[in-house]
Amino acid sequence: MQTLELSLGERSYPIHIGSGLISDSALLERSVAAEQVLIVTNETVAPLYLERLERGLRTRNTAALVLPDGEQYKTLDTFSRIVDRLIELRFHRDACVVALGGGVVGDVAGYAAASYQRGIAYVQVPTTLLAQVDSSVGGKTAVNHPSAKNMIGAFHQPVSVLIDTDTLGTLPGRELAAGIAEIVKYGLILDPELFGWLENNIERLTALEAPALAHAVRRSCGIKAAVVAEDEREQGKRALLNLGHTFGHALETLGGYGKWLHGEAVATGTVLAAETSRRLGWLSADDCRRIEDLLRRAGLPVRAEGVDADDMLEAMALDKKTGRDGLRLVLLTAIGEAVVTAAPEREVLLEVLRGERGTA
Ligand SMILES: NC(=O)c1ccc[n+]([C@@H]2O[C@H](COP(=O)([O-])OP(=O)(O)OC[C@H]3O[C@@H](n4cnc5c(N)ncnc54)[C@H](O)[C@@H]3O)[C@@H](O)[C@H]2O)c1
Repeated sequence: MQTLELSLGERSYPIHIGSGLISDSALLERSVAAEQVLIVTNETVAPLYLERLERGLRTRNTAALVLPDGEQYKTLDTFSRIVDRLIELRFHRDACVVALGGGVVGDVAGYAAASYQRGIAYVQVPTTLLAQVDSSVGGKTAVNHPSAKNMIGAFHQPVSVLIDTDTLGTLPGRELAAGIAEIVKYGLILDPELFGWLENNIERLTALEAPALAHAVRRSCGIKAAVVAEDEREQGKRALLNLGHTFGHALETLGGYGKWLHGEAVATGTVLAAETSRRLGWLSADDCRRIEDLLRRAGLPVRAEGVDADDMLEAMALDKKTGRDGLRLVLLTAIGEAVVTAAPEREVLLEVLRGERGTA
């Protein structure tokens, strides 16, 4: 097992990464201090891992809530179900929520923990690659609004993150690829060496080779932890982590939160961000091609086919990154270097969205 720390003063917490952590009762005992524990999971993950986790937590007063599966359930209704259950159980302020599942479970359970009695402890036990490399670390919790992603939520840091890489063994290939999109993102914004490593090892990741997965998870968590430690509330550097996300969130919203997996939308969004950067003359055509090639080799979609460009711009305008000064985007100046900037003029974005290559 390897342990990283996310340094946030009194709210610092460990990120444990290793094999078999879900069944490690000594680690679970250390990580979950509370007596009252509500495990929140979903109908897909529960039959695979719930019993093991419950066994590991057998000295605690443990209850479980099994949610339906899917991004379309990342809603205020589901949030209310979790709060209802905590009230029914008469759980008090010292209780702990344990989120067992992917980013959807982690985000909604985290938001319930952030709100219940003005905030109780929660532990993330992420079981998708995407959640292991990204959503379980950093304390962003949220539910979707029908017209915009993650519109309702809170910053609330977990007390611990337990990443059991063995759980990736049951993950469908499409979901694995979605997680790779976020790893590519880290390489693109901050770590050209990681990007190069991915170019050399992408097939090892898609084949679920344990050492390659462990390396990618560790490196990604290290980058995420360092960025969040520096800028917890996204006043500066943390915004770089949104590369591809303004385009991606719009794709997810237009698809009704069922068509695109989050990581797939991020992959296509990243290609659109790279293409916008190229159009502005900031990124070379060669780098643009490398990015698209890598995402394609990971099995990810790289084209927003069948999406109306005007609808996309409208959905993008509703993104949380739109502030007083209009839409802001994360764009690339090189592989490993990104900037947060005002969006270019509408015509440029429309051309990019319509797939018109244009010139630099
Ligand atoms: N909070 C953040 O900082 C942050 C960052 C990135 C993404 N997100 C959010 O995360 C969500 C996407 O997360 P996700 O990609 O994990 O999706 P997800 O939670 O929907 O999980 C994907 C699918 O895999 C299944 N699954 C989970 N673990 C499994 C396992 N070990 N074996 C088999 N099946 C398994 C799930 O039931 C689901 O069907 C989005 O809502 C996104 O907005 C949040």
